[in-house]
Amino acid sequence: MTESEQEIEGQVRYPQAPDAGAAGDPQPWGEKTRVVGSRQPRVDAFERVSGSAIFPSDVMLPGMLHAAVLTSPHANARVKSVDTSKAEKLSGVYAVISRNTEDANPDWDYGSDYPGKLFYDHCRFEGDFVAAVAADSSYRAHDALRAIEVEYETLPFVSDELAALESGAPEVHDGGNEAGHQSYSRGNIEQGFAAADVVLEETYRSASEMQTPLEPHGCVARWEADRLTVWESTQGVFAVQSKIAETLNMPLARVRVIGHYVGGAFGSKLRTDKYAIAAAMLSRRSNRPVKLFMTREQTLVSMGNRPPTTMTIKAGAKKDGTLTAIQFKGIGASGAYKAGGTSLLDWLAKDLYQCDNVSTELTDVYINAQPARPFRAPGYVQCSWAMEQMMDALAEQLDMDPVALRLLNIPDGTQARGNKPYTTDGLRLCIEQGAKAFGWDQAKAAPRGNGHLQRGVGMAAANWFVGDGGPPSTVILRLYADGTANLNMGASDIGTGTKTVMAMVVAEEFGMEPDAVQIEHADTATTQFATPSGGSKTVPTEAPAVRRACLAAKDRLMDMAARQLGRERDEIIFAGDRLRTADGLESLAIPELDELKKQKVVVGVGERQPNRQDVSITPFAAQFCEVEVNRRTGEIRLLRMLGTNESGRVINRLTWDGQVIGGITMGVGYATTEQRVLDGPTGKLCNRNWHDYKLPTALDVPAEIISEPIMLSDEQANIVGAKGLGEPVTIPTGGAIANAVYAATGIRMRDTPINPVTLIDPLASQEG
Ligand code: MOS
Repeated sequence: MTESEQEIEGQVRYPQAPDAGAAGDPQPWGEKTRVVGSRQPRVDAFERVSGSAIFPSDVMLPGMLHAAVLTSPHANARVKSVDTSKAEKLSGVYAVISRNTEDANPDWDYGSDYPGKLFYDHCRFEGDFVAAVAADSSYRAHDALRAIEVEYETLPFVSDELAALESGAPEVHDGGNEAGHQSYSRGNIEQGFAAADVVLEETYRSASEMQTPLEPHGCVARWEADRLTVWESTQGVFAVQSKIAETLNMPLARVRVIGHYVGGAFGSKLRTDKYAIAAAMLSRRSNRPVKLFMTREQTLVSMGNRPPTTMTIKAGAKKDGTLTAIQFKGIGASGAYKAGGTSLLDWLAKDLYQCDNVSTELTDVYINAQPARPFRAPGYVQCSWAMEQMMDALAEQLDMDPVALRLLNIPDGTQARGNKPYTTDGLRLCIEQGAKAFGWDQAKAAPRGNGHLQRGVGMAAANWFVGDGGPPSTVILRLYADGTANLNMGASDIGTGTKTVMAMVVAEEFGMEPDAVQIEHADTATTQFATPSGGSKTVPTEAPAVRRACLAAKDRLMDMAARQLGRERDEIIFAGDRLRTADGLESLAIPELDELKKQKVVVGVGERQPNRQDVSITPFAAQFCEVEVNRRTGEIRLLRMLGTNESGRVINRLTWDGQVIGGITMGVGYATTEQRVLDGPTGKLCNRNWHDYKLPTALDVPAEIISEPIMLSDEQANIVGAKGLGEPVTIPTGGAIANAVYAATGIRMRDTPINPVTLIDPLASQEG
């Protein structure tokens, strides 16, 4: 695995733990399940819709102060001096920290390569921290920011990944703007092109887009003597705990991080940011709890982005459609520090289709802009835009159907992944069943239309390399004497419905209803260790551990039943919510167990076991899209989309479909509305609010989005048969839309976003 892949994986996955030594794997659930597979409303639905759920940004503590951060307004500047004296004198201001407050300015390195401080004398991107204030109201904190006088020396900057590579470009760091370079090859690319009947080469670009979660990035920090508690909007409380402890040089046991609700993240809350440290520093100086949430504008300016990329693909195929060569060159912008500008960018080129001869080359580039962050299927979304349009173009050249061309080149997983076959034929299933459910053949054969409204269909496919899950994870299940349960798990529910899925696993095992399960989660002081919820690995990581915890508790209940009934242990079986004897003569409900009545609870501990190492546990996806283009205005109407996913067992059909609809919506933004615009003369972000940064609204997404899951259980994956879903659902959307636009217009849109502004000129030139 390359450095940049490790970087992105490291945020969501830890090294595989040794086998914890459990005796043989339990039987799979089989086809008949009672709760698993149903449509289950969220266990916290009432809290969410009534507004009573307490998100970190809702936390209010007695005596709490409100903080605000002064950030650099320049794309690249030296901070020559900071004068906070006027701010400190304002009434209601309790603490002001900056590079002048040495005891509140710990070391902080954005990348691994460059030293820095929380408040550093060189801000290499707009939005880097200069000072922070805590006051008795948010208004006073922001007033105080305006009273801080900063002298900057502005420096030349570069904000485009291609311009940054030109000679003479301003250097973001000494030594040039290349942040990383890596290459891959298999077979012989030249021979591959020589064997091809058709060779195409195209360059595609994808704009940077921002994660824009509904809840801004931030936290509340409180000290009790030398112990710190942080309520943070995060994907992983344990990751935040360890970063804070490391930065402040504190033992882990003195840092508690709680993250019960998260108002969206999409990858941008995997990283622990400076604000958590600033909040802790302000709280310590003021001896008060401090709430520090970035403003909406600041979240857009500096809290993460999908890096902009330029991708060149050259691909060759034989007349019969066999791919003979794929060459991929990608350039991506990390931002001002090393942050994975090309992470996972070439994976679909290497791994989506069978091809003996592949070479890829990735160049990661520094620019004077906020560091990139993981964003729902990092790298894959960008690569899919290029790769799946290339497949569409090849199909046309070969006079083949795009579905047929893909089916002809289904890989077995052994090429890019070191001789490890996929556990399922999921890619084929997604393409075949998706095409059928969409009515691909009929839709493709239907007329494009005459007049100014023209329709077309397009499709794209995907896989995703992290969605297998794995250790470590420990879960504790406590079964009460009345037959209800408490589930203790460290993982965050980042809005995907994790808690509900886990409650369903418990409900399935004990024959109870999901709302009989109380869930304690995402608190480093009270719950078991979990890795951050990211990489679409939360369900396949946690659900098997939850099931093991249930089985361990059931085991103890069966012991109790055997003793109570005077039977051998192996005569007792669990049937729904009862324990009965194999001969069917006697049975007990859980609350009837005498020992349980006395001891009040039984506890089961479950650990996530390692995955099989001889297979590739991979989720697959395909999406189909029908568009209508208005040739007069360049407007694109997305008439309908269908998403089909093979992510192993469907545990909750409702949250599954929610992921598909949400993922497609996000892909619609990537393909048609979203684009970070950095101003040419200043390098500053132009679209820094939700008016100018265009997220797709209800008017932009198709009225019809259909989720068509592949119903199977991936028994080789883990003991619940489920794989990750949250990221594969958004990977193919952009390519499918672009291909549909091509089918409607004959115009190949190589740059995101496709919208009336970008489409009108090519439409006009077609008119001649
Ligand atoms: Mo995800 S981009 O790993 O939260």
